[in-house]
Amino acid sequence: MVKTVKNDLLEAGLIPNVEKYLNGLLSSVWIVPQTFIYSDASPSGCGAWVSECAGMKWDEIGLSLKWLKTPLGENSNIMIPGHIKARQAVYPKSKVERFPVPDNKVSWMLNGRSTALSDTQRINSAGPVWADPDIMQEAGPSLKFNCVDGNVNRISYTGHYECIEGIPRNPCGRTGLMERGTLGKWGPNHAADPIVTRWKISQSGEKVLHSCSDKPILKFISIRRVDSGEWAIPGGMVDAGEKVSQALKREFGEEAMNSLALEGEKLKAVEEAVADLFEHGVEVYRGYVDDPRNTDNAWMETMAVNYHDDDGNSVAKFPLHAGDDAAAVQWHDVGSDIKLYASHSSFIQLVAERLRAHWHL
Ligand code: BGC
Repeated sequence: MVKTVKNDLLEAGLIPNVEKYLNGLLSSVWIVPQTFIYSDASPSGCGAWVSECAGMKWDEIGLSLKWLKTPLGENSNIMIPGHIKARQAVYPKSKVERFPVPDNKVSWMLNGRSTALSDTQRINSAGPVWADPDIMQEAGPSLKFNCVDGNVNRISYTGHYECIEGIPRNPCGRTGLMERGTLGKWGPNHAADPIVTRWKISQSGEKVLHSCSDKPILKFISIRRVDSGEWAIPGGMVDAGEKVSQALKREFGEEAMNSLALEGEKLKAVEEAVADLFEHGVEVYRGYVDDPRNTDNAWMETMAVNYHDDDGNSVAKFPLHAGDDAAAVQWHDVGSDIKLYASHSSFIQLVAERLRAHWHL
């Protein structure tokens, strides 16, 4: 049986708050559903999301966004058009064109096609140390999916993903490109995104309110990525065997404070400052990322954590220096007009909502 989520939320007595929440989602989040439709076949599906929301306050509903990102697929509960950047025509750093996938062909339940790479188009098959073997081409050691395989975490935040003849299948549906593109791992590739924020303060020391929304303006530390030139959260990949909490600190240190270029006392001071700030973080998102590098068989996932310096006494004094994969670093004003890499602006929106900061005009 197929129903609209909105009706169920209505029945659960969550309107008008949910109405506002869904409208926010429709206009800004990377998964842009026209209608939320789900089949209530599975007990852990959206039915669970609805009842879980029923006891929640408005803010908490905002944070349960991950439930709406339940994957598409045969075992899926929510059917949404899904990823957009992961379907963009030309694959990053290549001339390879994806097979066009319209919204109504994203789901694996429907017939559709993806481009198969030729030998000359194959990206990443040379196998840098951090990359998996090319399991489509070689009969190498088999990889264990949906579990921790040696020191590589192949568990998806989205739940169990399907493997067809030993090859994982993107839980958000078709991307128009087979194999693993430039990503290192087949299946989920895990990243960590630290969102460091403070309030915008006037010369007289007051919070600056936005002239239209009348809400205080938040600032966050952003970096310009070397690979795409886009502004982004200073995140990065979780290394094999590394904890996400370590990756959050390490990536922030490397990209926003250039810790890789520091030694001795200077390095120690930076590490201490970061460790201090990163003691109290609030997770705002964990799940699939609509990344342009995603393919049918390899995709990005992340955990985004907010570290907020409410009184401006710690982070605001950080010396920012771009390093590693970052070409530049700066404090960026938060608002719905920001254009960021992959799904990063949707994570920033969650932070703005959490801190009741300005977002929409
Ligand atoms: C970036 C993360 C991002 C992830 C998914 C990584 O390369 O460093 O910030 O969230 O890709 O797009």
